[in-house]
Amino acid sequence: MRYTQFGNTGFMVSEIALGTWGIGGAGWDENTEETRLDAIRSAIESGINLIDTAPAYNGGVAEEYVGRVVEDMGIRKDVYLVTKCGTEFIDGKYVRSCAPDVILRECEASLRNLRTDHIDLYMLHWPDASVPIAETMEALNTLKRQGKILHIGVSNFSKEQIVEASQYGAIEAYQPQYSMVFRSNEAQMRWAVSQGMGVMTYGSLGAGILTGTYRKRPRFPPTDNRSRFYKHFREPMFSKIMKLVELMDVMADAHGGIPLAQIAINWAVQKDFVTSSIVGVQHRERIMENCDSFDWTLTPEENAILDAAIKRYLGNGKKEGAAR
Ligand SMILES: NC(=O)c1ccc[n+]([C@@H]2O[C@H](COP(=O)([O-])OP(=O)(O)OC[C@H]3O[C@@H](n4cnc5c(N)ncnc54)[C@H](OP(=O)(O)O)[C@@H]3O)[C@@H](O)[C@H]2O)c1
Repeated sequence: MRYTQFGNTGFMVSEIALGTWGIGGAGWDENTEETRLDAIRSAIESGINLIDTAPAYNGGVAEEYVGRVVEDMGIRKDVYLVTKCGTEFIDGKYVRSCAPDVILRECEASLRNLRTDHIDLYMLHWPDASVPIAETMEALNTLKRQGKILHIGVSNFSKEQIVEASQYGAIEAYQPQYSMVFRSNEAQMRWAVSQGMGVMTYGSLGAGILTGTYRKRPRFPPTDNRSRFYKHFREPMFSKIMKLVELMDVMADAHGGIPLAQIAINWAVQKDFVTSSIVGVQHRERIMENCDSFDWTLTPEENAILDAAIKRYLGNGKKEGAAR
């Protein structure tokens, strides 16, 4: 595993973070509880020390799993726990509110679920225009003064929204979607890094499409996040991405048959404006495969070939649109 400074927080984080949306168990492939707990365990055993979760991941179930494993392994001081607020998952629906009372309540629940007395990084999951950001930040500053959270971050905010929030307290992390098939946040990521923020990216494997798992367009149920949240599995996007995947096949062969996921991970983490790539994964063997990404690196020539192909097949990255 490779480690790097997470912005100005003083955290030394693994360049792959564990994503737990799927592990929560709603809107992704269903696995047994033991498989999901084992995924968290194996991520920690493989050197991943940055774990991303949220109350929105099946109403706190993902947080509970993380809390259980971290407590069982006795390694709380060795991992950075990132969770979020402002978006809840209630009766199968995502409910957004950054109202101060909601945030204070959510934080208590997250601390309980995670079995900890502090959250290392607490992020606003999505912006909420119905609540003045000054009020939201005041709630977060209160939690910070109380020692319940150490750092504040934002996800899915525009640059203007981050600048506005920063007037009321330090924003030290930014979590955007970013992968070979979703690059529209690149300029903002560069800016965030220049401001001293840590940048942790989500959807780093394009929800799995960059692993070569899908060669024919899959039909997911409408509630599955690969059809509901991500756009990669819709036409014409799917067919365009398949051309890119074919090129990745050739590159993987040239590296002795490495898994495609390692190309997607290396492509992202080799960017100097990516601090850590969050990868969602529910299987021990896939986690180990992903962590082996750092056994090798893409050469500048290979990066240039991939960048040119991405531009040729997917355009300049300006039209991907928001995730939802
Ligand atoms: N802030 C936000 O708004 C936001 C939004 C989305 C996601 N996130 C966070 O970012 C994390 C990552 O994003 P994501 O999970 O949506 O998408 P992702 O990481 O791009 O892709 C996850 C998918 O890739 C599969 N996968 C992982 N490694 C693989 C491998 N080596 N070979 C084959 N398949 C592999 C997983 O399969 P299995 O799970 O079946 O193993 C899963 O289906 C989330 O879990 C969550 O923590 C945040």
